[in-house]
Amino acid sequence: MRILMLAHAFNSLAQRLHVELRADGHELSVEFDIHDDVTCEAAQLFHPDVVLAPFLKRAIPRPVWERHRCFIVHPGPPGDRGPSALDWAILRAVPVWGITVIQAVAELDAGPVWASASFEMRAARKSSLYRHEVTEGAVTAVRAALARVASGLGPLFEPAGGSATWQPAMTQAQRAIDWRHDDMATVLRKIRSADGHPGLEDVLDHRRFRLFDAHAEPARSGRPGDLIARRHDSVCRATPDGAVWIGQLQPADGPPSFKRPAALALGAVAQTLPRDPGWGDGGRQPAGGDIRYVERAAVGYLHFDFYNGALGEQQCERLRSAFVQARRQQTRVIVLMGGTDFWCNGMHLHCIEAADSPADASWANINQIDDLAREILLTDTHLTIAALGGNAAAGGVFLALAADRVLARSSVVLNPHYRNMGNLYGSEYWTYLLPRRVGAERARELMESRLPLGAERARSFGLIDDHAGPDDAGFLEMVRREAEALAVEDVFESALQHKRACRADDERKRALADYRDQELAQMHLNFYGFDPSYHIARHRFVHRTPHAWTPLHLARHRSA
Ligand code: COA
Repeated sequence: MRILMLAHAFNSLAQRLHVELRADGHELSVEFDIHDDVTCEAAQLFHPDVVLAPFLKRAIPRPVWERHRCFIVHPGPPGDRGPSALDWAILRAVPVWGITVIQAVAELDAGPVWASASFEMRAARKSSLYRHEVTEGAVTAVRAALARVASGLGPLFEPAGGSATWQPAMTQAQRAIDWRHDDMATVLRKIRSADGHPGLEDVLDHRRFRLFDAHAEPARSGRPGDLIARRHDSVCRATPDGAVWIGQLQPADGPPSFKRPAALALGAVAQTLPRDPGWGDGGRQPAGGDIRYVERAAVGYLHFDFYNGALGEQQCERLRSAFVQARRQQTRVIVLMGGTDFWCNGMHLHCIEAADSPADASWANINQIDDLAREILLTDTHLTIAALGGNAAAGGVFLALAADRVLARSSVVLNPHYRNMGNLYGSEYWTYLLPRRVGAERARELMESRLPLGAERARSFGLIDDHAGPDDAGFLEMVRREAEALAVEDVFESALQHKRACRADDERKRALADYRDQELAQMHLNFYGFDPSYHIARHRFVHRTPHAWTPLHLARHRSA
């Protein structure tokens, strides 16, 4: 089928559907929702069999839904309507939720239902539920809806109609925290219902912020509402029955802003808080810390769950020291597990944007990531595995390739390219790591196509070694099996010898330092040169500036 994807942005759900539907043999083109006339023009140019709207903030224009079958992916069960579907589900702690494919009609979310899927709710932030359960359900439901179209069937049912099921957009007042009375679980639920957008508005140190990235801390206490501790860039705030860590804040006073690590946003007051060290800087492993290390059967599993997969200078340094600490243990294999939602998305663009000199901050950040990549790449005492349970993009993908084996959850979406960020050249030794896995021609094609890749396609040409899942159990079992197989003494010794020989051979052909110097010379131009494209792209990305046009690599109907 010819499917025109209409979206506010090419977000994770749109990318996943793009990957899956292309793999199913459909012909896809994408148009961003910029203006009704542009949408109508896109439909005229592409002649779609179906218009698919996985992520829209406005209604589809009437001429489009009158002429074409338009499917809206709604993150709620059949009958649910409104723009804050998941927010309400989290706040009300419903045990089971759903996704529905609805045909667009004049009234929002009120059209015929073509397919649906359901899932058990998990105690997690909204964006995490969206990236996992909602996305998985959407893939199933969209496939079911398209199958009905292909077999000439109609919708499953027409909804009863009426306004009873309409849930309005949730206001800040409806989820405001009462710090004197709300317990830890309530505070977490409220913050999670608004994370990653719009964030829960609150007052800290007499200033208004939006709060994100909350974790329970049952082992601490203080006067409810007080800030009582700091760990790295997170701050801890007391509740009547414990406390919560808050990792990210977005200033809500003054001009439109963006989120950043909490201590950075708070400034001086964060400096006065008692510090709690985490693992990777000599401290104990705290509950809910972003770096965790677990050992089993000669394998060390290093988890690093950084908010939005962003690897800033501070995270790089901590992760590098945690990796070095892991390498000192009596193990044979180290598995780099990444985080639940993302494995890694490269440089921390929000911290860079917030810095006095974004050019200097970019330079420092990329050098830190390169140091980390080098540390992994030159490890000759252990075998390493990158286990991608969450998505990865740009430098994050190439950092994973520094490991000896790369495994992924079947549902991950990879973006192994940098150019979407203002033609950034990229580093992380990608000029060495990518061609060595996929060959020079494929490396060039991946970098230039700028399209997301699914796990199966990535495996088909060797970008990754294997994948399993999409469920947690299947993915983790594959990782454990592979890691423990590599840790068997004979296998380990011969694989390690082979690794050392290959590295020595590669080094003779061209020194690793030379790859880095050449990449960084290009990055220096991106950061300090005459062309400001990277700085403009980063600014627009961080401020979530709406798109003004659809890039031609996505809008196939415009380049034909
Ligand atoms: N640094 C800081 N924040 C990042 C980030 C990065 N490298 N990559 C993603 N994020 C943030 C986004 O700003 C967004 O923030 P929000 O919580 O305020 O919404 C959030 O992560 C999710 O990103 P979004 O683009 O909405 O999610 P997605 O799942 O739809 O898309 C990516 C994921 C990775 C494809 C996209 O975010 C991206 O292109 N990131 C930039 C990658 C990059 O160029 N890195 C720098 C070069 S190494």
